[in-house]
Amino acid sequence: MKIPRALTIAGLDSGGGAGITADLKTFHALGVYGMVALTAVTAQNTLGVKAVQEIDPSVVEAQINAVAEDIGVDAAKTGMLSSSPIMEVVAKAVKRWGFPLVVDPVMYAKSGDPLIRPEAMDTLKRVIIPIAKVVTPNAPEASHLAGFHVETLDDARKAAKVIAEELHPEIVIVKGGHLTGDESIDIVYFRDSGEYRELRAPRIDTKNTHGTGCSFSAAIAAGLAKGLDPWNAIKIAKELITMAIKYSLPLGHGHGPVNPMAWLEPKAYRIEVLEEMNRALSIIEKNAETIGNYIPEVQSNLGYALPAFYARDTDDVAAVPGRIVKYMGRAKPSGPPTFGASSHVASYILTVMKYDPEMRAAINIKYDEDIIKAARELGYVVSSYDRRQEPPEIKTKEGASIPWGTEQAIRAVGRVPDVIYHLGDWGKEPEIVILGRTPTEVLEKLLNIISHVRRN
Ligand SMILES: Nc1ncnc2c1ncn2[C@@H]1O[C@H](COP(=O)(O)OP(=O)(O)OP(=O)(O)O)[C@@H](O)[C@H]1O
Ligand SMILES: [Mg+2]
Repeated sequence: MKIPRALTIAGLDSGGGAGITADLKTFHALGVYGMVALTAVTAQNTLGVKAVQEIDPSVVEAQINAVAEDIGVDAAKTGMLSSSPIMEVVAKAVKRWGFPLVVDPVMYAKSGDPLIRPEAMDTLKRVIIPIAKVVTPNAPEASHLAGFHVETLDDARKAAKVIAEELHPEIVIVKGGHLTGDESIDIVYFRDSGEYRELRAPRIDTKNTHGTGCSFSAAIAAGLAKGLDPWNAIKIAKELITMAIKYSLPLGHGHGPVNPMAWLEPKAYRIEVLEEMNRALSIIEKNAETIGNYIPEVQSNLGYALPAFYARDTDDVAAVPGRIVKYMGRAKPSGPPTFGASSHVASYILTVMKYDPEMRAAINIKYDEDIIKAARELGYVVSSYDRRQEPPEIKTKEGASIPWGTEQAIRAVGRVPDVIYHLGDWGKEPEIVILGRTPTEVLEKLLNIISHVRRN
């Protein structure tokens, strides 16, 4: 078994958003072992760069040699290379070991603070970019490298070609983060074939884009380390960076960090949620007769959302496709739990999570006065809403009724209750919804309430 190994030759951002911390997270999120040759320490946060200490060039070189001669390097990337002497030793070591190199020609931090000495700009062009397999300038960097202002996609196309022909990297990607438009479009130019391709993703409206360029170039290096061909490595890097921006972290007072772990975390949470749902469905099967008495005309569903940070819409809530039906008097889940399988119960869950992010699960059951009474007697917080009071503008808006009702019920008791009910309206069956932190907790509450009803 071969473990892919990637090296980042870059600076430290003490704020954890960019530089080697972004690169290592990205490498590991993509299943690649990450190593570091540190070029500079920056005292930095989401607002700016406060101080810089360059690492002695001989130590930069020694770090690359140390990992290459022992552990091995399948691909590398460069980030902050602030001086000519550092660039010279990096170029020497890259040539010595022969690994493919992704160059992120970093010139300024997201805050606008410079990360390269002015006199090193020429060395970057002469010594570093020519040895790159892939170089990834953003629009301002492409302007410097191409020698004209890059503002439109057409400028980006021209700049990519000029950079490829004049500085000789194999592939140039002019990134679109600094351009405008509904999509963030990157232009990819292949020097040998003269071919253009585009990377497109919806432009995400956020100021938390600290480290996008670092993560993107690290993801390309990770793909190359795994042996992917460059275009596949680049396409996956675009998917990863889009996720990392979508789930970026609102930290600090400036540009918050991107979140490369968003490539992995939701996938892991999805498995955890399905496992917990399966445990809950086996509880339903064990108590099928008892619960069968409380399945409504519209059938029941049980839902469980991803942790709040990743729970954005109904696709982030697992439920039972085809619902939990009543079959020969018994409650019966129609199929295995699946994300996006419910809109009704998911709508309750997503609404309550805005008020209490821990309350991620719910089941709807048939309305029964005795259930409400028993829940109250057991000390559960019970609240309700009246569908007949629903304002017309809510009634006519698709998907607005449940959030409206749930908010009414929360407001009435000043917290997310354990039980919410409503008595229906024309053509709307009354119902009870039981809420909890997990689906097993929801079922415990339900079974607890039902046994209390039976005892009385
Ligand atoms: N708001 C956004 N929505 C979607 N994608 C974006 C957004 N901003 C940047 N990107 C994408 O992120 C990647 C990095 O591009 P960007 O131009 O931001 O790099 P950068 O300026 O070098 O970043 P950094 O400031 O971290 O060095 C590109 O694929 C770009 O299209
Ligand atoms: Mg950058």
